[in-house]
Amino acid sequence: MTIGGLPFSPARRRLLAALPLAALPFASIVPALALAQRNAAPYVPTPWPIVDAMLDLARIRADDLLVDLGCGDGRLAVTAAKRFGARGYGVDIDPELVALANRNAADAGVAERVRFEQRDLFQTDLRDATVLTLYLLPQTVVELVPRIFAQMPAGARVVSHDYGLSPWPPERHVAFDVPEKKRITGTTYTVLYLYIVPARLAGVWRLDLPESLMSRPARLVITQESLKSAATLTIGGRTAEVEELFVHGDEVRMLLPPLSPGGKRLLLEGHARDGTLEGALESGGSRGMWRASRLSTEVR
Ligand SMILES: C[S@@+](CC[C@H](N)C(=O)[O-])C[C@H]1O[C@@H](n2cnc3c(N)ncnc32)[C@H](O)[C@@H]1O
Repeated sequence: MTIGGLPFSPARRRLLAALPLAALPFASIVPALALAQRNAAPYVPTPWPIVDAMLDLARIRADDLLVDLGCGDGRLAVTAAKRFGARGYGVDIDPELVALANRNAADAGVAERVRFEQRDLFQTDLRDATVLTLYLLPQTVVELVPRIFAQMPAGARVVSHDYGLSPWPPERHVAFDVPEKKRITGTTYTVLYLYIVPARLAGVWRLDLPESLMSRPARLVITQESLKSAATLTIGGRTAEVEELFVHGDEVRMLLPPLSPGGKRLLLEGHARDGTLEGALESGGSRGMWRASRLSTEVR
C-alpha cells in the first residue's frame, strides 16, 4: 500500500496512528524517512499558534539556547530567535528538512544564532540547552527523560506538545483547541506540558550550620533516583533521615530532624550552584545561614 507515493509499511502505519495525526489528509506532507536511524515521529509541523504558545509557556529569554529534537522545518527555533533573540539548535534525521530549516533561518535573518544539523535526536547533546521543545511520539518523549535529567542544567525548561513525560509530573499543562490542527492531525485538541529540570544533587556533601546549632560539619548523603530525592544526615556517628527534601530547578528545601534531644527541627532553604548548596535556615524562631559543599558525586 502507498500513501503520497511512499511505501506505507506497518512501521509507518504504527507511527502515524500513535500521533493523533493518523489521518490520511496529512500523509501527503510526510517525506521519505531516514529509517536507518530510529524513527521517533513522522514529520508533522506544529501549527503556528501552537509554536507561539509553546514559546510563551517556556518563557523564552534572549539568553536561552532552545534545542528542538526533531526540528522539522525549524519553526520553533527560528521563531524563538526572531521573537525573543534566543539562540537555537535543531536536529532532524531528514536531510531535506534540515536544509529547509537552515534556509528558513537565513530567510528570517537569524542564521547567526540558529543552526540545524542532520543528527539522531537520541544522540544529541543536551548539556547546553536551557529550553527543550518536543513534538514526538508518546513513547519517545518518555524515553528521553533519563537523558534530560542526566544532561540538562538545573532550572532548564522542557515543553512537550501533546504528550507528557510520564511519570514526571509537569510543572504546568495547558489545553486548548486550535482549528488549524484539525487539517493535519484530525483533531483540534492540543495539550502543552511544561517541566522544570531539577538540580542533580546525588552524592556526598559536607554540611555546615551555625556553630550554635552544630559545632562540627555533618555528612549529608543525597540519593536521586528517577523522580525521588532523599537524604541522610550523619553527625558524630549518628545517622538520621532528612525528613523532607524538595528540589525544584536549582531551589532546594530540606527539613532536618532535631539535632539534639528536645531540639527543634531545622528548615533549610537555598540554591544549588557549582557544587555548593547554600541559603537561609530557620529553627524554632532562630535564623542563620547554611552551606553544603559536594565531596563526591558517588553515593557511598
Ligand atoms: C512531529 S515532527 C515535529 C517537527 C517540529 N519539531 C515541529 O514541532 O514543527 C517530528 C520530527 O522528528 C524527526 N525525527 C524522527 N526521528 C528522529 C530521530 N531519530 N532523530 C532526529 N529527528 C527525528 C522527523 O523527521 C520529524 O521532522
